[in-house]
Amino acid sequence: MVNQIRLFLPLGALGALLLGAGACTQPLAESRAATQLPEQRRPAPAAPDTSGYERRAPQDLNGIGKYYMGRQIAHVMGHEGASWLDRSDRAQEEGTDQLLRELKLKPTDVVADIGAGTGFFTFRMSALVPQGKVLAVDIQPEMLESLRQTRAKLGANNVIPVRGTTQNPNLPAGEVDLVLIVDAYHEFDYPREMARAIKQALSPTGRLALVEYRAEDPNVPIKRIHKMSVAQARREMAAVGLRLTDSVETLPQQHLLFFQK
Ligand SMILES: C[S@@+](CC[C@H](N)C(=O)[O-])C[C@H]1O[C@@H](n2cnc3c(N)ncnc32)[C@H](O)[C@@H]1O
Repeated sequence: MVNQIRLFLPLGALGALLLGAGACTQPLAESRAATQLPEQRRPAPAAPDTSGYERRAPQDLNGIGKYYMGRQIAHVMGHEGASWLDRSDRAQEEGTDQLLRELKLKPTDVVADIGAGTGFFTFRMSALVPQGKVLAVDIQPEMLESLRQTRAKLGANNVIPVRGTTQNPNLPAGEVDLVLIVDAYHEFDYPREMARAIKQALSPTGRLALVEYRAEDPNVPIKRIHKMSVAQARREMAAVGLRLTDSVETLPQQHLLFFQK
C-alpha cells in the first residue's frame, strides 16, 4: 500500500529525476578534458566534494537519482496520498502509542515535527505538551492547510504550522527540546542541510528522534528506498556532529533513534 501511494509523484520530483540523470554525465566530460591537457597546463584538481551528494541514474525509480553518502533519496510523498497517513490501522501497525511514550515528553517541551504531513504525531504530541508547543513543519502547502484545519477543529492552539523549504525547516535557533521526524528524513532532498539546521534549532540538551522503517529487516514490507539502517543514519548524523545517544528497537517495524549534539 505504501508503495502504491508513493507513485503519486509531484511534477517537481519528476523534474529532479530527469535532472539527476542528466547531471551525472558532467564529471565524465570534465575528466576527459583534463587528461588531454599537457601536465603543466592542467588545472589544479577541484576541491573534493565533501557534501556527500552524487548524481547517478536511479537504481530504483522511486528515487530522485540523487545519492547522499551512498543512499538514494526517495521522492517526496505527494499530498494526494495524505489519507494513508491517517489510516485506521496505523496505530497498531506501527505501535504509535509506544513510540509516543518513548519520546518521554515533558508538559513544557517545545517540539518540532518535521515532515509533519497531516499531523498524525503533531496533534498527539500537542496533548502531551499542554504548556509547550508543537512546531509542525512541512514543505507542501496542502499538508499545511490540512494541519490548519485540524488545529481549528481540535482547538489545538499550541500547534504552530511552519512552512519549511527543502533545505531549512525554519525553526528558532537553540529552542527546540525535541525534533521528531517520522518516515520523512529519507525523502529530504537536502538531508545534510536539514540535519545542520536541526542541530542549530536544538537546545543544548535537545534531542532528535528519527523514526525510519528498519532496512536490516527483510520482514518489514516496505520498499528498500523507504527504509534506513542504523549504520546509515549514524553516518549521516555524524557528518553534521550529531551522535546517537539512545535507541528503541521494540517498535513493530521502525527504528527510533535519538541523536544529540
Ligand atoms: C511520508 S510523509 C510522513 C508524514 C508524517 N511524519 C507521518 O508520519 O504521518 C513525509 C512528509 O515529509 C514532508 N517533507 C519532505 N521533505 C521535507 C522537508 N525537506 N522538510 C519538511 N517536510 C518535508 C512531505 O511533504 C510529507 O508530508
